[in-house]
Amino acid sequence: MKIPTKKLKSGFEMPVYGLGTWQMGGRDERDFANDDVADIGGIRAALDAGVTHIDTAEKYADGYSETLVGRAIKGYDRSKIFIASKVQEKNLGYDDILNSCKKSLERLQTDYLDLYLLHRYSKGHSLKDSMRALDKLVEEGLVKHIGVCNFGKEHLAEAQRYTKNKIVCDQVHYNLEFREPEAFGLLGYCKESDVFLSAWRPVGKGSLLGNIPPVLQEMCDKYKKTPAQIAINWLISQPYVITLSKTRSPDHLNENLGALGWNMEKEDIEKLRKEYPGQKLVSDVVPLG
Ligand SMILES: NC(=O)c1ccc[n+]([C@@H]2O[C@H](COP(=O)([O-])OP(=O)(O)OC[C@H]3O[C@@H](n4cnc5c(N)ncnc54)[C@H](OP(=O)(O)O)[C@@H]3O)[C@@H](O)[C@H]2O)c1
Repeated sequence: MKIPTKKLKSGFEMPVYGLGTWQMGGRDERDFANDDVADIGGIRAALDAGVTHIDTAEKYADGYSETLVGRAIKGYDRSKIFIASKVQEKNLGYDDILNSCKKSLERLQTDYLDLYLLHRYSKGHSLKDSMRALDKLVEEGLVKHIGVCNFGKEHLAEAQRYTKNKIVCDQVHYNLEFREPEAFGLLGYCKESDVFLSAWRPVGKGSLLGNIPPVLQEMCDKYKKTPAQIAINWLISQPYVITLSKTRSPDHLNENLGALGWNMEKEDIEKLRKEYPGQKLVSDVVPLG
């Protein structure tokens, strides 16, 4: 299928759904018992189904997730794939960012990234220097677009002041249950500032899909969709929101793709926003990924 896209006023365009790779190849460390064939198969199944955006990070499986993505995309037309990766918090110094990016490119076996993101705000580094390094990577043609992850609106605004390139997205934890981007104004800020809010953990790693609350069941019945499809569609039906979902299961991939190509009515988006139970404003877990 053709994955629908959204366009910023700046002209930058992105698919509304991308494939996540957190936990492919391991968690923070490489898992040598990992089923690499299944992960590579999952990435290829997504590409074959029309998914073009693949999200990875140097931190995932200590770089091994990038290696798996590099192996998976072999034989595909690179120009049709949108690869995003991230530099981790401990590497946000100017030289470290340049170095990390080059290593990511080697593991991914590609000569550019479509999007390069700071994985997290770091008090221990100069944001000005980090943004200067991202500018340098754009200048060298190693990175096409830049962005950040897990930044609140103040840090996002500050980061934009330090770069001559447009920050195209802020990747943050946002789903039916986890509402920090609404509570602290990031969602509104992204709309005002023409920045995509890229929502990670759309199905709460599966936790949103057991014990379905009545308001979610009501939407499943109304739209004849599954809870995962409603959870994903609720995100991407909102302006400026796109999402990333990890799966290596063909059944889950098919199910998740059924969340695309239609829009929930505005009143239902708002009903879920108000009535979905157990909303959390601030993460009470360390946001791994
Ligand atoms: N920037 C950041 O700090 C940050 C943080 C977290 C995540 N991310 C990115 O966002 C991506 C998505 O977030 P996430 O992986 O944490 O959470 P997620 O996509 O909500 O959940 C992934 C988990 O849910 C399962 N799953 C997926 N679709 C399902 C379905 N329809 N039914 C049942 N289970 C389903 C997957 O298992 P199967 O493989 O078995 O389907 C996997 O275990 C990550 O992979 C990563 O690329 C970024």
